[in-house]
Amino acid sequence: MADIPEDAREVDALDMEGRLLTPGLVDCHTHIVHGGNRASEFDMRLQGASYEEIAQAGGGIVATVAATRTASETSLLESALRRVDALIAEGMTTIEIKSGYGLDVETELKMLRVARRIATLRPLRVRTSFLGAHSVPEEYVGRSDAYLDEVCLPALDAAYDEGLVDAVDGFCEGIAFSTEQIQRVFEKACLLGVRVKLHAEQLSWLGGAALAASFDALSCDHLEYATPADAIAMARSGSVAVLLPGAFYFLRETKLPPLDALRANGVAMALATDCNPGSSPLTSLLLSMNMACTLFRMTPQEALAGVTIHGARALGLADVGQIKSGQKADLAVWDVAHPAELSYRIGFNPLHLRMFEGEIT
Ligand code: NIG
Ligand code: FE
Repeated sequence: MADIPEDAREVDALDMEGRLLTPGLVDCHTHIVHGGNRASEFDMRLQGASYEEIAQAGGGIVATVAATRTASETSLLESALRRVDALIAEGMTTIEIKSGYGLDVETELKMLRVARRIATLRPLRVRTSFLGAHSVPEEYVGRSDAYLDEVCLPALDAAYDEGLVDAVDGFCEGIAFSTEQIQRVFEKACLLGVRVKLHAEQLSWLGGAALAASFDALSCDHLEYATPADAIAMARSGSVAVLLPGAFYFLRETKLPPLDALRANGVAMALATDCNPGSSPLTSLLLSMNMACTLFRMTPQEALAGVTIHGARALGLADVGQIKSGQKADLAVWDVAHPAELSYRIGFNPLHLRMFEGEIT
């Protein structure tokens, strides 16, 4: 109360009757705007095909690119809102949304515009990441450097000029872009003064996390194949480790991210849904928390920090994700007796009340 200006001290008291109060939840890594779905690939993977094999055979990300290019802005918006509403119902108040299913200038911009429009239609905060370096589109197969020069970097310029870019992301992987190529994208981001983040060491080790750390990345995401040396590099740069147990689960990955090394070096660990049609068709942060505990052996306390304070940090937001003076009044009230219950139940939503910027919504 001492920190509150005198003229603002007249407040309506709300009795929460002993319920748990947390910050509004932050989903700091999503591809929630996308056309179509990839349920048929799910079927193929269950019959033994790997995610990488499907991508190499012309499925995967580029299949969603085709569906996103042909979708109208209205249909992209409507389908994304269905998913966003599921997250809102569980107390999410801030979401990050990536482009990356356009891979041409026009569609990358379309995705980012749709993402931003969501914030005008729902009570939430949207941060947009430009992910032009997500995959090589069909028309540039075998010419990935030309794709970067002729499409990705010009699209980044255009999106930046339209004010649509809060961060620049990339996919550093054998089926996507090399560290050298990602470095070119990051150098462009630096010229524009935009912070970077990276899908790194998800399916194999390529050195993306160390590269991102050398650019003071906001976050390195996935990290299943990251090493203790990567954790040290991330600790030095202050990059957040964004762990995505939904993708780990859905791809039936067995290699665990280096949790002990991340902890030992004091790297902040965030959690997110990675909501996307290929590797994580997940629209529940509570389930992400449960999976982080059961699959990664994170503690329920770490899981809660992962979807609040550390999720906010992964987005460079200093005034979100905590309950204290100077923070946005984004809050969630839960019908639980102990914080661990948020991670413990599976498929149950104990949200009692949600507040976005001081308004009960
Ligand atoms: O975060 N890793 C790259 N991007 C997404 C998957 C995208 C897709 O399969 O459509 C991810 O897992
Ligand atoms: Fe992702």
